[in-house]
Amino acid sequence: MKLLVTGGAGYIGSHTTAFLAEAGHDVAVLDNLSRTNRSVLAGLADILGRSVPFFQTDVRDAKGLDRVFEGRGFDAVLHFAALKAVGESVHRPAAFYDNNVAGTVSLLEAMDRHGCDSIVFSSSCTVYGEPDTLPVTEESPIKPATSPYGATKQMCERILADVAATGRVRSISLRYFNPIGAHPSGKIGELLVDGPSNLVPYLARAAAGATGPVPVFGTDYPTPDGTAIRDYIDIMDLAEAHGAALGRLVSRVGASSEAINVGTGTGRSVFEVIAAFEHATGVSVPTNHVARRSGDVPAVWADPAVAESLLGWRTKRTLEQSLRTVWQWQTRTTPAAQPSDAP
Ligand code: NAD
Ligand code: WQD
Repeated sequence: MKLLVTGGAGYIGSHTTAFLAEAGHDVAVLDNLSRTNRSVLAGLADILGRSVPFFQTDVRDAKGLDRVFEGRGFDAVLHFAALKAVGESVHRPAAFYDNNVAGTVSLLEAMDRHGCDSIVFSSSCTVYGEPDTLPVTEESPIKPATSPYGATKQMCERILADVAATGRVRSISLRYFNPIGAHPSGKIGELLVDGPSNLVPYLARAAAGATGPVPVFGTDYPTPDGTAIRDYIDIMDLAEAHGAALGRLVSRVGASSEAINVGTGTGRSVFEVIAAFEHATGVSVPTNHVARRSGDVPAVWADPAVAESLLGWRTKRTLEQSLRTVWQWQTRTTPAAQPSDAP
């Protein structure tokens, strides 16, 4: 397939590009480089042995999109381009609505102008808010968004459903849980342009001595060990889910607009993740127990049954395998890090 990956120089987009290009698809990347840099494109070229066509364009730039789409006959778009930091969205809501919602509308209009009718959209488990029951299924209620970021994902899903109802576009919104890990080659991983805020990159940095201790946000949750529970999914498992979604879209199976959970089906506490990291790498992680982080829910993990039945996809990598790739990526950027005598 001829594919356009927006946000393809970002974390999830670059790993998905690597997977799809290695699977034989003809992939082009579009990114405005606002949250990444060209080193990712160099890493991709290293993995693939050739460079990937790249367009430095903003998805809100209609003329720029016309130049990208013109004559290229894309069969589908994978739309990753968005701002994603929940905290930042609270301080810059208008920028998030403009980038994420107006950007998606602009992209859909360009697809319409150029006869491209299939899109895979990066949605998030954040649409479920604090779920009433676990695991979360696609039937779980969509809760009022607690952040502008979460609202942009809900709005984009709604826009995609409305556009699909015209019969002109088919879409699959993949609701990612917590992506972690890096490409097994060690050549691409998660760039932390604004410093780490998510748990796993933070603990890798702390283990490498590049930051202070990891703040463990809350040890008084109603969970077995008191720390919050999430569903951590390996980045290459996630990349593979996009291949499966594309297959379903272009073979025109199912409804014209679908939303599918992409997770492992297993919840892990913060303490479990830290212990798994130490076990997988032999490196100890300094921690500091602090108060809960505002806005965090106690527990959320996916029921991946729909993904398995509709996409024929399920995760393959273990948490420890993922954490080893995180450490491999981390030690490339901080070569001084050494294993200690941790368990
Ligand atoms: P990322 O920041 O690494 O990648 C996003 C990329 O999009 C960046 O390279 C950025 O430069 C680009 N971009 C942003 N706005 C753009 C615009 N207007 N035009 C063109 N390019 C633009 O983030 P990521 O973790 O790879 O996330 C990818 C997608 O997955 C996002 O839509 C995000 O909301 C969603 N998502 C991420 C997570 C997560 O935990 N990482 C979880 C659920 C959903
Ligand atoms: C995981 C757990 C923290 C950092 C975010 C977005 C969500 C989705 C995925 C985009 C929580 C705890 C964290 C730290 C900690 N993204 N933690 N110390 O918040 O589950 O999800 O990414 O759609 O919308 O909110 O991920 O990695 O930040 O936190 O104790 O330094 O680790 O409290 O329980 P989160 P996270």
